[in-house]
Amino acid sequence: MKMKANPGGFIAPENVIGRDEFIAELWQVLAQQSVLLLAERRIGKSSILNKIVKETQPTWLPLLKNVESITSVARFVMVIRDQLTPFLSKTEQGKSWLEKIQNLAAGGKVAGVEIPQAKQADWHDVLAELLNSVHQHQEQQVLLMWDEFPWMLQKIIKNEGHQAAGDLLDTLRHCRQSNANLRMLFTGSIGLHQVISTIRIAGYSNEPVNDMQVLSLDALAKDDAVDLANALIDGEGLTNRVNEQDIAGLCAMVDNVPYFIHHLIKSLRNGSGTPEHIVKAAIAGVDNNWQLEHYYTRLEDYYPEQWQKYALVLDAVAYSESSISRKQIHQALQAEPDAANDANLQDKNYQKQMLRHLIDDHYLVQNIDTAAYQFRYPLIKKWWCFYRD
Ligand SMILES: Nc1ncnc2c1ncn2[C@@H]1O[C@H](COP(=O)(O)OP(=O)(O)O)[C@@H](O)[C@H]1O
Ligand SMILES: [Mg+2]
Repeated sequence: MKMKANPGGFIAPENVIGRDEFIAELWQVLAQQSVLLLAERRIGKSSILNKIVKETQPTWLPLLKNVESITSVARFVMVIRDQLTPFLSKTEQGKSWLEKIQNLAAGGKVAGVEIPQAKQADWHDVLAELLNSVHQHQEQQVLLMWDEFPWMLQKIIKNEGHQAAGDLLDTLRHCRQSNANLRMLFTGSIGLHQVISTIRIAGYSNEPVNDMQVLSLDALAKDDAVDLANALIDGEGLTNRVNEQDIAGLCAMVDNVPYFIHHLIKSLRNGSGTPEHIVKAAIAGVDNNWQLEHYYTRLEDYYPEQWQKYALVLDAVAYSESSISRKQIHQALQAEPDAANDANLQDKNYQKQMLRHLIDDHYLVQNIDTAAYQFRYPLIKKWWCFYRD
């Protein structure tokens, strides 16, 4: 296979390398229940969704929409209506509640006028009706895939409040439960559990997604990373510049993350030096195209008020040469002036909870034998040390 380096760009489904096993597992889980697919930005979630749509199984009807820019429940319902209308029967299409969506939307469009509380409830009714009816008239199993779902929720919280977001999650859960064959797949690069916990703290919606299976996506397996690198080296005409035996080492330098492999090969093509030099430049922040800063800036999205505390915990793990136990993290935090006077940071249970979140959000991994913590990606660890120095 030959492929052009395209870091962050659209990857045609046939060029999505090494995700077949993951997709097979995904279908297996979907046969039973809905799925939350969570992983950090740029790891390859959207590429997988596109591939699912293109190469779907005949018994499924997968409908994909990126909902990142949606800021209201009303807009979300409209989007779902547009997704589903082509698949409604003619009689359903003529039904009054579809019209009702139109009318509600017209009301919501008046500039500056918020949809009153009563109408928020109406949205949930029509949403439930819409999802029920499409499911009843479809021979295929409907799979609604909403990419970047937690971003939308966060925006709805901001614009319409916690109750609107909590009610939406409850309605979706209710729809899943009343339609045995309906499946939803939410993907997100910000921690959904974080968004849900803010909804919960505000007193709404207890366990709105605990009927869904969480799947997390990792970097590529070593052999797949090598296949990707080979395809890119071929596609960029670099075969005589890279020794075949070195390719696994090249991939290891970027932790087999496909997005970084694209960057590495692109820089090689651009004559930016040896692979070692290119990776060093990315780690040192000299080459900002890799967008590693995202690993710092997203802390504030994930842990709004506490993000600086999380950064201090990450410092402790990053500055430790090998993996580090919770007790050692505690000691490091005691020795750190900014952390020494912070009651939360000195509290054992709080520390444990933070470490749990950092694992869920893919910053850290924990060794199951020693219980010690380490960065998930060594490249990010090195970058973190540079960035925070
Ligand atoms: N399986 C893959 N095969 C080839 N390239 C990939 C693959 N997965 C990700 N990439 C590369 O990483 C970039 C980001 O992938 P994307 O699917 O958009 O990630 P996400 O949706 O998780 O942010 C793509 O533009 C592409 O360069
Ligand atoms: Mg994406």
